[in-house]
Amino acid sequence: MLGLGLIGRIAAGVRRDVAAARSRDPAARDVGPLEILVTWPGVHALFAHRIAHVLHEIGVPFLPRVIAAVSRAITGIEIHPAAKIGQGFFIDHGMGVVIGETAELGDDVTLYQGVTLGGTGFATGKRHPTVQDNVTIGSGAKLLGPITVGHGSKIGANSVVIHDVPPNSTVVGNPGHPVRVEGRRPEGPDADWVHLPDPIADAIKSLASRISALEQSGVDEAPGQGNVRPLRPAGNREDEIEQTPDTTTRVNRTVGPNPAGG
Ligand SMILES: CC(C)(COP(=O)(O)OP(=O)(O)OC[C@H]1O[C@@H](n2cnc3c(N)ncnc32)[C@H](O)[C@@H]1OP(=O)(O)O)[C@@H](O)C(=O)NCCC(=O)NCCS
Repeated sequence: MLGLGLIGRIAAGVRRDVAAARSRDPAARDVGPLEILVTWPGVHALFAHRIAHVLHEIGVPFLPRVIAAVSRAITGIEIHPAAKIGQGFFIDHGMGVVIGETAELGDDVTLYQGVTLGGTGFATGKRHPTVQDNVTIGSGAKLLGPITVGHGSKIGANSVVIHDVPPNSTVVGNPGHPVRVEGRRPEGPDADWVHLPDPIADAIKSLASRISALEQSGVDEAPGQGNVRPLRPAGNREDEIEQTPDTTTRVNRTVGPNPAGG
């Protein structure tokens, strides 16, 4: 059952979590530990999780899930009781954070609101991310599957990360790709993920410039007329044929002999 040792461990964890909030949230710099403990939702969620996790570890049924559900209702942060979370964890703002059952987080990890550490489907076993020490994950980022985020890395807001992230990297975008590794831009033929070739956009651009060139040449050939065609009574096609070269082509196609012979 819960001994003094376990209670002491939870208390030490919470103390470090409050200190993490003070050091990593600019809005908490001048706020006392008690005020943070009472008013910071990320700290509440973590406090609830530390209790739920200990109960889950020692095999207490039902209660850990109840604690997690109540905590979720109050804070908007959903942490599965089985998720392993290290010391100095900080969730800023909190609302919309989901941390799955087999997620593992190292020490001094920071998450912003809307982060998901989730699975990719209905797989069982280890199916959630492992996040090493000193990682920061921006708001709205989704990390999916049993990937590993190396220590000291940063994940940009709204990124979708489905592959391992090397240590000390910055990963952004969807799909998430490294824009910094060990402080430098990644090099090599596959490094430029941002400026990938886009053949469809290229084709549309070339058609657009061809159309504008054709329009321009039409205006040049009929100075003063622009592309305004005078209205003619239906059937007076001979008059129309005399107007401009482009209408000649159209009318000839209408009234000329049928090449198919029908
Ligand atoms: C990813 C992040 C940590 C990078 O910060 P950084 O180390 O200072 O890196 P930089 O700002 O130099 O950005 C590096 C590159 O990534 C790009 N980038 C940064 N964040 C990005 C994002 N979220 N999405 C897409 N691209 C991003 C930058 O444009 C830059 O591109 P470049 O190399 O072509 O110039 C930061 O941009 C971020 O997203 N932080 C999350 C903050 C957050 O969620 N705040 C919520 C507060 S409520």
